[in-house]
Amino acid sequence: MLPSLKTAFTLLSLIQLISSRAVTPSPQQTLKEVILLIQQLNSGAQVPCNDTRVAQVAFTDRKLPDQELLCQADMALTRVTSCKETYEPLITNLKRLHGKKKCFLRDENEIYLRHFLPALGNFTQGMYRHRGSLATQ
Ligand SMILES: *[C@@H]1O[C@H](CO)[C@@H](O)[C@H](O)[C@H]1NC(C)=O
Ligand SMILES: *[C@@H]1O[C@H](CO)[C@@H](O)[C@H](O)[C@H]1NC(C)=O
Repeated sequence: MLPSLKTAFTLLSLIQLISSRAVTPSPQQTLKEVILLIQQLNSGAQVPCNDTRVAQVAFTDRKLPDQELLCQADMALTRVTSCKETYEPLITNLKRLHGKKKCFLRDENEIYLRHFLPALGNFTQGMYRHRGSLATQ
């Protein structure tokens, strides 16, 4: 009886290991999710709350770490209160990706959300390609 109990326990912890992996997506999976959500938002005639102005994030500034830029994008989108529910899934995934508690967002420059979202899409796609090429090396 004892050996079979041990087997059962091993099996149980194996199942737990597999299921915990399933509920915690890898950063690359989360990044892919972010890209898909942005593509969805960009696919309409106009992005939701297109005319809302948000703080500009310096996505092309290579001196800033990716995590910082993602955190700033999160902050900028969090302030779009009129389309809160629409942007919620994107914000949740951005938070998961950057994992930061706070970041610094300068808001003296603002752009329309319809320009912000494609820029974020371009940035995250660049990140995805870059990480993908690192992984295959
Ligand atoms: C933003 O979207 C609204 C509603 O769909 C539309 O009336 C408006 O023309 C759009 N603005 C621009 C600049 O496309
Ligand atoms: C897209 O991203 C690349 C690299 O991340 C950048 O060099 C380029 O300027 C970006 N293009 C636009 C339109 O934002």
